[in-house]
Amino acid sequence: PVKFKPVTWREVEEGCAKIAEQISSRGIKVDVIVGVLRGGWIPARLLSDYLGTPTMGALEVKFYRGIGETAERPVVTQPLIVDIRDKVVLVVDDVADTGKTLNIAINFLTHYGPRKILTAALYLKPWSMHRPDFYAEETDAWIVFPWDKAETVEELVRKKGLSLEEVSKITGEDIEFIE
Ligand code: PRP
Ligand code: MG
Repeated sequence: PVKFKPVTWREVEEGCAKIAEQISSRGIKVDVIVGVLRGGWIPARLLSDYLGTPTMGALEVKFYRGIGETAERPVVTQPLIVDIRDKVVLVVDDVADTGKTLNIAINFLTHYGPRKILTAALYLKPWSMHRPDFYAEETDAWIVFPWDKAETVEELVRKKGLSLEEVSKITGEDIEFIE
């Protein structure tokens, strides 16, 4: 059975603070923070605050299943607008699972001539092919973030047929549907 890990807003803040601490204790000065939409945006914004790095950009990476392809692969669907040439860039996502999203992000950003690309994810799955330079915690559980709770509830109730009571045990609080 899938293990679920509901994450609170407080834990998100603590995780980002931990990552910021790792970065500053290594004496690294980040010039630009790039949040990977959508899940990486909120951690990226918090890191902008904690690191005192006001310059941010966003990159949207989505999983697409190409016709005739067996495996899903992520593609960049909204390119970067902020200038990263000769800059130290911190790419931020909420979780590295297969690690494909961060790998695609790095490959994409490399073309814009940054001085250095560093990666951070709140959570890291042990099987990820990409190990972020900075992460708060490693876990093999399915993480339910405060920003994707409704999506998770929707999937568990409507697609997997769980009751609201079972779902609220997973998401960690009482669930109500807004129709
Ligand atoms: C999720 C998550 C990471 C990515 C991790 O995003 O937010 O970006 O998957 O998976 P990977 O390491 O296997 O590539 P998703 O594509 O579901 O989109 P979202 O952020 O818009 O929810
Ligand atoms: Mg994502």
